[in-house]
Amino acid sequence: MTKRISVAIDGPAGAGKSTLARRLAKDLGYRYVDTGAIYRTVAYFFDLWGVSPKDMDGIRRYIDELNIKIEYDEAGLQHMILNGMDVTDDIRTPEISQKASLISAHAIVRDLLLDMQREVAASYDVVMDGRDIGTVVLPKATVKIFLTASPEVRANRRTKELLEKGQKASYDQILGEIQQRDYQDTHREIAPLKMARDSVKLDTSDLNIEETLAAMKDIVAKKVAL
Ligand code: C5P
Repeated sequence: MTKRISVAIDGPAGAGKSTLARRLAKDLGYRYVDTGAIYRTVAYFFDLWGVSPKDMDGIRRYIDELNIKIEYDEAGLQHMILNGMDVTDDIRTPEISQKASLISAHAIVRDLLLDMQREVAASYDVVMDGRDIGTVVLPKATVKIFLTASPEVRANRRTKELLEKGQKASYDQILGEIQQRDYQDTHREIAPLKMARDSVKLDTSDLNIEETLAAMKDIVAKKVAL
């Protein structure tokens, strides 16, 4: 079997990982794997059952009913299938963001999702984004990038994005949510968000999307013949 190429992209909420990872995957011809969407799907599942993300007993009781599949449509977009239902759009709410951040702290949840993520990377060349891809999921990834930006810049971008979509958005509230998720994601015991030692840090605070994408391609080109 030929060795697969994997580009691991980690970083805090709102650093632009998914937009950039998707673009990078498209340009490289690799498959884009959004692992945050998998955690969101788990959070959505327990939400449907009325189980709080902190309720370990409830999680243990229902976790065997959880069946998640990742599918890709003709345009290469990732769809999350939960027990046969396409929940791709349902998992993109601020409430599910917070619940995903809490539910992802449990070992029982992380262990369940580990093989699923590794299997995709074993089957395809991937650009995979998340929090622990370079540290835990794919410690031998071909390329590792840690994408970050200041909390203020991230909050600003997200506020603009929501306003452009015609949705309500308060900068202060979004900044508070980002700071809370950063805290939860970096302080959990298992697989906390941290930079892998062999990862290249890219601070996008002063870069636009095109500049960041170009910088990412330069990083990839140092390891892979493009
Ligand atoms: O990236 P996204 O914001 O969609 O992720 C939602 C939540 O899922 C994060 O706040 C994080 O707690 C969790 N997550 C994780 N490990 C990953 C990807 C996401 O713990 N690899």
